[in-house]
Amino acid sequence: MKAEEARAALGQETVRKLIRTAMQMRDRSYVPYSRFAVGAALLTADGTVYGGCNIENAAYTPTNCAERTAFFTAVAAGERHFRAIAIAGGPQGAEKLDFCPPCGVCRQVMMEFCDPEAFLIITARSTEEYRIHTLKAYLPDGFGPADLA
Ligand code: THU
Repeated sequence: MKAEEARAALGQETVRKLIRTAMQMRDRSYVPYSRFAVGAALLTADGTVYGGCNIENAAYTPTNCAERTAFFTAVAAGERHFRAIAIAGGPQGAEKLDFCPPCGVCRQVMMEFCDPEAFLIITARSTEEYRIHTLKAYLPDGFGPADLA
């Protein structure tokens, strides 16, 4: 129920706007090693959108995904409440994108700040072709702050 309400409240125009921003953010990706450019657009409870891109590193493991870049940028700006994130990823310069699901580490970061039943993850091939699932669907029975209480 929470998921349906969250989805209805989001609206198609907002979804498309988030996808467009995620696609634009791909241009900022720093991906000299994988050449796989990912962009993300994170929507806060008050309607602000924070963009993120993946940022790779010669030592490989310090690489930051687009989703985490968006979250860390938003949290560093003082945000704590989030509604949805759009993700667009694929080979650099690709004409057509496929769905790019968030990696496990990013799902765990979302778990820290979001209600898994209400937070929506939008994966997009285009502004017309996208999927929307809850964080709970991507990370069932996830470990979060409530488990430490
Ligand atoms: N990547 C993301 O930024 N987000 C995802 O959802 C999947 C993977 C990045 C990490 C790395 O820079 C490149 O894509 C290839 O794994």
